Amino acid sequence: MCNKVLGIGLESSCDETAAAIVADGRKIVSHAIFSQIKLHQEYFGVVPEIASRAHLEVINDCIDHCMKQASISFNTISYVAATCRPGLVGSLLIALQSAKAISYALSIPLIGVHHLEAHLYAPFLEGYGIEFPFIGLLVSGGNTALYLVHDFGKFELLGNTADDAVGEAFDKVAKFLSLGYPGGPIIETLAQQATVKKQLFPKILADSSESYSFSYSGIKTAVIQYIHEHPDADIAEIAYSFQERALEILARRLFEASRRLKISTLVIAGGVASNKRLREIIFEKKKEYHKIFIPSPILCTDNGAMVAGIGYQYFKKGVFSPLTIDVKARA
Ligand code: KG4
Repeated sequence: MCNKVLGIGLESSCDETAAAIVADGRKIVSHAIFSQIKLHQEYFGVVPEIASRAHLEVINDCIDHCMKQASISFNTISYVAATCRPGLVGSLLIALQSAKAISYALSIPLIGVHHLEAHLYAPFLEGYGIEFPFIGLLVSGGNTALYLVHDFGKFELLGNTADDAVGEAFDKVAKFLSLGYPGGPIIETLAQQATVKKQLFPKILADSSESYSFSYSGIKTAVIQYIHEHPDADIAEIAYSFQERALEILARRLFEASRRLKISTLVIAGGVASNKRLREIIFEKKKEYHKIFIPSPILCTDNGAMVAGIGYQYFKKGVFSPLTIDVKARA
């Protein structure tokens, strides 16, 4: 391992505290993820104050765990990367401040990483040869966005959600149905149990639109209204119809962008990318010339490996962050 460049990546932008050691930006040597789901479950969503306190309590254990699992000492690490934007400010601070301390103590470069770029890097950690340019669809609890990615560090926003993120809509619908948190996996499982599979809700946004925008507040309201009007409705059928509509627009926008921009390499990342029905819809719509990359579920969710991985690309170019770098709530 001595001729490899080892980097450590830290992540705490939302409700996962994560760290990972990655070699040459491609191979995961060790990783640890401390999930806070149990702490937020009773509130059906992430409570920022609880999240930042919990990150602070576990970040050192998380780093220790990674170091022990990798059986390396700190002086073999060449750089430290941490997510610095976008996310919950109080949460982001924990990983970034820890990274600053490591950078200062070891005199190694600090690299502040864009969370969404890190997510789109996840499939690069699984040995795929992904060529630029590609279209990146980022689907999580905080973001729903389409990007044109020219290179590492060079990406353009094509479209964004006008209101809720897709994962947030899954969480809110699950909350309204008192199903639990996080809503995505619960609704996915429930939708599979639907015996009657019909559309109860209208399509999200028009079919042919010049923009690549998304919107989830309308479907959320439609679900709530439907339940008020049909109190005896089958919950599994509601979950099925909601999920179809929520996912269908993601695939529609992705393939619209592919056709218009004539780009056949597509990357889908973020927590919602682990949804099996989303994968099915995308593979149903795929043409033979499309090359589609979706990370394994463990790399779809927030993790330190994607942060260390994209950090390596900046390390190679000598693009480092000063110790004065700050966190940002927005990208
Ligand atoms: O990327 P992520 O782990 O955290 C951030 O939001 O940054 O994504 C979490 C989101 C939650 O809203 C969760 O409900 C959703 O991803 N999610 C899913 C599934 N698994 C997680 N949504 C739909 N289907 C799933 N299987």
